Amino acid sequence: MALYSEKVMDHFRNPRNVGVIEDANGIGEVGNAKCGDIMKMYLKIEDDVVQDVKFETFGCGSAIASSSMATELIKGKPVSEVMKLTNKAVAEALDGLPAYKMHCSVLAEEAIHSALEDYQKRTGKSI
Ligand code: FES
Repeated sequence: MALYSEKVMDHFRNPRNVGVIEDANGIGEVGNAKCGDIMKMYLKIEDDVVQDVKFETFGCGSAIASSSMATELIKGKPVSEVMKLTNKAVAEALDGLPAYKMHCSVLAEEAIHSALEDYQKRTGKSI
């Protein structure tokens, strides 16, 4: 069996939603101290819905695939739902990650949560 699923390879080779949102109202940056990988998420939230999301990931292929899939999972979703996104859901949507690469999907969960916290701070809204 291949180490990585086709979905992982697809999102790694053709990542969705890469880039920066200039007028983002929620930005989260997280890193993994062990591997040194960094992920940054930009959210544009309007009417409590994630209207747009972009990411920049300086990291391994699984981190890139995880961020790409995570952006697809949260785009157009209400913030209350986005808050509940777990790394497990991201990995499942990618048809799995090798056990020693699960921490890469954790970065995606953390980056999104951190961006939502930033949004809460900026707007004073609670989710
Ligand atoms: Fe660090 Fe994948 S090895 S996030």
